[in-house]
Amino acid sequence: MQHTILVTGATGYIGSHTCVCLLQAGLRVIAIDNLCNSSPQVIARIEEIADRALPFAQLDIRDYAALDALLKKHAIDAVIHFAGLKAVGESMSQPLRYFDNNVAGSITLLRALAAHDIKTLVFSSSATVYGDPQSVPIAETAPLSATNPYGRSKLMVEQILSDLARSDEGWRIATLRYFNPAGAHESGRIGEDPHGIPNNLMPYVAQVAIGRRAYLSIFGGDYPTPDGTGVRDFIHVMDLAYGHLAALQRLFSGPGCFTVNLGTGSGVSVLQAVRAFERASGQTIRCRISARRAGDIAACYASPTAAQTLLAWRAEKSLDQMCADQWRWQQANPDGYGQTH
Ligand code: NAD
Ligand code: WQD
Repeated sequence: MQHTILVTGATGYIGSHTCVCLLQAGLRVIAIDNLCNSSPQVIARIEEIADRALPFAQLDIRDYAALDALLKKHAIDAVIHFAGLKAVGESMSQPLRYFDNNVAGSITLLRALAAHDIKTLVFSSSATVYGDPQSVPIAETAPLSATNPYGRSKLMVEQILSDLARSDEGWRIATLRYFNPAGAHESGRIGEDPHGIPNNLMPYVAQVAIGRRAYLSIFGGDYPTPDGTGVRDFIHVMDLAYGHLAALQRLFSGPGCFTVNLGTGSGVSVLQAVRAFERASGQTIRCRISARRAGDIAACYASPTAAQTLLAWRAEKSLDQMCADQWRWQQANPDGYGQTH
């Protein structure tokens, strides 16, 4: 593929790993991010791993004029749209900020793309659009709902994209519903760098292992799951990144829009994840069972068959690899990107 891909949210966790994957596949990439939740150091790390240059612009997707100028400068064939805010708890206290950034931001981006006749798009959606699922594994046809403003922002953008595709069959849109990304690039040079106290399990566990946090609070030990802790579908971030490449290949191969889950199809409990991290790191992870976290569900894992059929893609990496790679990243960068330069 000799295409040029615009990546929004490129310096973020999933965006950075996907840029590596795209560059290594020989695609040209233009990276943009407003750096509200990521570091500019990421670009040099991506370039180092991929051994390719990565043009970067600090740009907010809500800034139509800046997008328009960028799109005049570069001939873009497709866009992967990662840019967004993603903290569920924060979205409940700051709903307008989430709708403005995630929904209005996506609309502004789509308007600018349409004005330049760029109609091939991959969108980062989330398993959160399934709300509290009636059964697992979850197929793409399961009922959709939102339990918080973050989830609603994803659902709203999905609906906007679906209306857009109906209005003009020139659009080729892949909506990818990610389950729980974890791990890091195997080089240990890029990874997730949460600001403050991590919201998500894996970065929290990694920080306990390195000694930055005293212990892990396990949110609920009385779920109707095999060991009483929550069950999730952890997927290696590089597998997820390759899923984007597969989605692009599919979009470039013919017309049409599709929505697929990107998950492994395997449910792993919080306790199983902690034990795997202990094996990978050789550290003991101190844990305390505490109250359930508001809004959490018992079990969430994907039916991955649609992605297998449509994209010829499946997750390859194991939970042990996710933990080993996350631990390598954590050890080499104990304070994330902050103090390593
Ligand atoms: P991240 O916060 O690491 O990356 C998102 C990037 O977008 C950040 O670098 C941030 O600075 C940038 N950004 C935010 N608002 C922007 C704006 N208005 N203009 C330009 N840049 C902006 O998050 P991530 O984990 O890499 O997630 C990427 C996407 O995937 C998000 O849309 C997220 O909602 C979605 N997603 C993430 C997960 C997850 O668990 N990590 C799961 C499902 C879906
Ligand atoms: C996983 C499990 C927790 C932290 C979130 C978003 C979702 C999607 C992915 C963006 C749960 C338990 C966690 C801790 C714990 N993001 N846990 N102690 O909640 O499945 O999904 O990220 O789209 O929208 O909601 O992920 O990593 O926060 O939690 O016991 O300190 O770990 O209760 O069972 P979650 P998570």
